[in-house]
Amino acid sequence: MSDHDLPLPRRDLARRFEAVRRHTLTLAEPLSAEDQAAQSMPDASPAKWHQAHTSWFFEALLLRPHLPGYRPLDESFHFLFNSYYEGLGPRHPRPQRGLLTRPSLDEVRAYRRHVDTHIRQLIDSCTDAVWAAIAPTLELGLHHEQQHQELLLTDALHLLSCHPWRPALIDAPPAPIAAGTSEWLCHDGGLVEIGRDVHQRNAAETGFAFDNEGPRHRVWLEPFEIASRLVTCGDFQRFIDDGGYREPRWWLSDGWATVQQQGWKAPLYWVADGDDAGRDDSADGSGSRWSVFGLHGLRPMDPAAPVMQLSFYEATAFAEWAGARLPSEPEWEAASALPGMAQLADQAWQWTRSAYHPYPGFRPLDGAASEYNGKFMVGQLVLRGGSLATPPGHTRPTYRNFFPPAARWQFTGLRLARDARPRTETPA
Ligand SMILES: [Fe+2]
Repeated sequence: MSDHDLPLPRRDLARRFEAVRRHTLTLAEPLSAEDQAAQSMPDASPAKWHQAHTSWFFEALLLRPHLPGYRPLDESFHFLFNSYYEGLGPRHPRPQRGLLTRPSLDEVRAYRRHVDTHIRQLIDSCTDAVWAAIAPTLELGLHHEQQHQELLLTDALHLLSCHPWRPALIDAPPAPIAAGTSEWLCHDGGLVEIGRDVHQRNAAETGFAFDNEGPRHRVWLEPFEIASRLVTCGDFQRFIDDGGYREPRWWLSDGWATVQQQGWKAPLYWVADGDDAGRDDSADGSGSRWSVFGLHGLRPMDPAAPVMQLSFYEATAFAEWAGARLPSEPEWEAASALPGMAQLADQAWQWTRSAYHPYPGFRPLDGAASEYNGKFMVGQLVLRGGSLATPPGHTRPTYRNFFPPAARWQFTGLRLARDARPRTETPA
């Protein structure tokens, strides 16, 4: 069988493997070994752990089962760097990943090189039949590592946000955001198809999709309107100035309880001028001037920039205040092809009003990868699009990201939607 008959050519996947593995190291480069070992909260993982865990994924799902004679660099890594795969054995507790001061960063880098060497060997040496069986898992491993590349950044950003220096991950100033006005775009609704046929695809032709993106299926939509651009920091400041964080009527009950418990007054990385000098007036934030912490450090708030590091609760409260709502995920996907839709995937993930549930006919992948998505389909909301931290080429209009409603350390923002206004009939 020639390469052309196989769903994924070896050379192509081998090249992508090298590029993705290299990109992870590039992202970690601005971080010191000390930065890379620390864990700022249970939800976030150390950069060193991300680099080890993505290597573990290739080792556990490909090298151990499929490379004859493979010898792990260190047997204990199988326990240390398993994330949540019950089928692959016990693991180190997630909230204690920051206590893994050993192996050192240098040893984790050696682990990566060990896995890389043997993945190359597997790609070069396996039979065509084995290749056909393992290529989809290798491809899954690449997309898995890309997901961790974004997590590495969001987790490192959270860590640095806890440091009084508020160090920048990127030295250069951010690229300016064009201050365009948001328009309401109309969608007629009707019967639409969303999702991807992930189990019957010819991967080489249609490209990769996660199992949770399928099956493709029909959904009925009522006519709706959707904003062409994301909600901006300037928009969100008006919500704050209007007392948005102290007015329960905008909030879902769980959201309002969280605002009270956590003392939220603004998006996660907004710093009211004066707070950094140690003055916390514990007011509601209205009337403050703000700076925003991000990959480029602490910078004066740009009113044209999309607001991000928002929870679902804050997104729904803002939408209520604005007299609108969040789109459902079928609405978002159907609208993604509308002319005029901007900031689809390059700024912030967009909260939808849709719970993260299986699509009709959903079937998880076989084997260990069956734990990848399906078991998390409860208690979370779907986000669509992509963010400025999403690796190029990783996302697509059918992509389903998901987080619990109170999560706010990701690059998460919102795009407004509303029911279409009834059309007035013109008399003949
Ligand atoms: Fe993972």
